[in-house]
Amino acid sequence: MRVSEEKIVEIRKSVNIVDIISDYIPIEQKGRNYFAICPFHDDHNPSMSISPEKQIYTCFVCGAHGNVFNFIMDYENVSFYEALKIVANKSNIELNIDDYNQNIEKRNDNNNLYEIYDFAFKYYQNNLLTKDGKEALDYLYKRDFTDEIIKEFGIGLSTKNKLTKVLLNKGYKNEDLLNSGISSFNDNIYDTFIDRIMFPLWDLDGKVVGFSGRIYKTNDSSKYVNSKESEIFKKGNLLYNYHRAKQFARRKKSVIIVEGFMDVIALYKVGIYNVVASMGTAITKEQARLLKKLSTNIILCFDGDTAGNKATLSCSKELTDIGIYPKIIRLPSPLDPDEFLSKYGKEKFDEYLENPKSLLDYKIDYYRSITNFNNSEEISNYIKNVLSELNLVEDKIVKEIILKKLSDETNISFSTINGLLKENTKKKEKKQENKVTFNKYEKAERRLIFYMIRYPEVIRIYENNKCNFPTKEFRFLASEIIYYYNKHNCLSIADFLSYLNDKEELLEAFKKIDTLNINENYCYEEIMDYINLLNDYSIKERIKSLTKEFKKENDFIKKTEIAKEISELKVRV
Ligand code: UTP
Ligand code: MN
Repeated sequence: MRVSEEKIVEIRKSVNIVDIISDYIPIEQKGRNYFAICPFHDDHNPSMSISPEKQIYTCFVCGAHGNVFNFIMDYENVSFYEALKIVANKSNIELNIDDYNQNIEKRNDNNNLYEIYDFAFKYYQNNLLTKDGKEALDYLYKRDFTDEIIKEFGIGLSTKNKLTKVLLNKGYKNEDLLNSGISSFNDNIYDTFIDRIMFPLWDLDGKVVGFSGRIYKTNDSSKYVNSKESEIFKKGNLLYNYHRAKQFARRKKSVIIVEGFMDVIALYKVGIYNVVASMGTAITKEQARLLKKLSTNIILCFDGDTAGNKATLSCSKELTDIGIYPKIIRLPSPLDPDEFLSKYGKEKFDEYLENPKSLLDYKIDYYRSITNFNNSEEISNYIKNVLSELNLVEDKIVKEIILKKLSDETNISFSTINGLLKENTKKKEKKQENKVTFNKYEKAERRLIFYMIRYPEVIRIYENNKCNFPTKEFRFLASEIIYYYNKHNCLSIADFLSYLNDKEELLEAFKKIDTLNINENYCYEEIMDYINLLNDYSIKERIKSLTKEFKKENDFIKKTEIAKEISELKVRV
């Protein structure tokens, strides 16, 4: 059973979004609306407006948009149901959320897995304290681990092949143990981890969902072995130490990402807590999204070697794709943060931390480092690379500084380089223009939906004049709007947002539309223009596909039929 729509509306209406948001961030009234520095991007002016009338907030810079639940979800990084609970608690509305919480449903399905990891977690920790653990403990002490750190990070030890047997005796089945990755199979079932120092891996909520085991005696081959991915452990969907770093990232208003979990722990040892690790692989879109949730001020501090450089570039790409320009720390090659700290100490690290490079400077330094300045082709490439980065920069002073430097170091005149930049900019603008004309149908569908969610009359006009939406998500969104409207006989944007809570794609589509900065009022002719335009689109698409069919068709009679249909359609557009 789920929470009913009525209950969700009741909880939403029990508070004023203005009060709730002002509990989190300072807000200021201007006219009918309130404004705030948007907490969801690197904002310097108050770009977020909060409408008490509509009970929604909107950031016109980053597109953050939603009702009171969406705000809490994004700010506190919690699920829809948790946000519901937070608001219900504030208003003293009773809500037995546990029965509904989808996470908990999911948790129940995977109860065995959680239990196995929990047992293994305690078992490994205990091993470290027995006499079997002496050598491993010495290894950890040598690497400056204290007993407190060992406890905080739940570090343990896998010893000889025994855990599988213990778990089987407790009643778990082979299948469960193999699914968990704690055991493996080869003729017989056995422990995956033997004689390794065990680091638990947590999910976003701080539940143990896997392990990474490190060798500590010299004769082994692979340095780390990770438990395999499972229903609850997807490496690309989590970041090491996320649950612990969350509060610190918020307080520090920044988050540091490193490659190894050993680096997270090394930084923790010296009192730097707002740190997460990507765990050695290229960062995924989901991980980029998680980082953005921790803070919009992201500092990359990968290893000082070439692999670290590659990781820096690819991670930056994922982040810039979602509108975040990270800052970069490059440690001297080939040190990782852990090694750097042991070698140079915290103060030196702080110097790096206080002066991270901008992504732009980092990239330029990188291009420079791979250029042979005795080779004219390489110089030319260097200039082109830097200019392509500069294309994305708005700040005229930054542009000029970099152009001057570029001219000095390459001995190419400022005006030549500046001319090239202007050419590039023109090309870019042209590309964008092409895009805009291509989007006229998209514009029509967005605008049509924009007015549909504001005026029931527009829903009726649409229903009487049916047309197709070219974009899938807008098509689905339109049918949800009509479904919702017919069911409730009204459509409040704030409540429709709650309705979309488990339909992520549609919610994103909805945000795109509701944040359009266009006239709130419509006229009938305008709506009909959009509908006609979309109809034209469908017809043109039909003509296109018929033309293809026509070319492929060999049968003369059928060909004639297709041609007839095409010419009939052509009259209509
Ligand atoms: P590193 O090789 O940089 O490890 O791998 P590290 O953090 O410096 O560890 P120490 O200091 O040698 O103990 C970074 C991350 O890549 C993953 C691990 O998650 C590690 O934290 N990794 C590395 C593996 O999964 N398997 C490996 O064999 C090596
Ligand atoms: Mn290391």
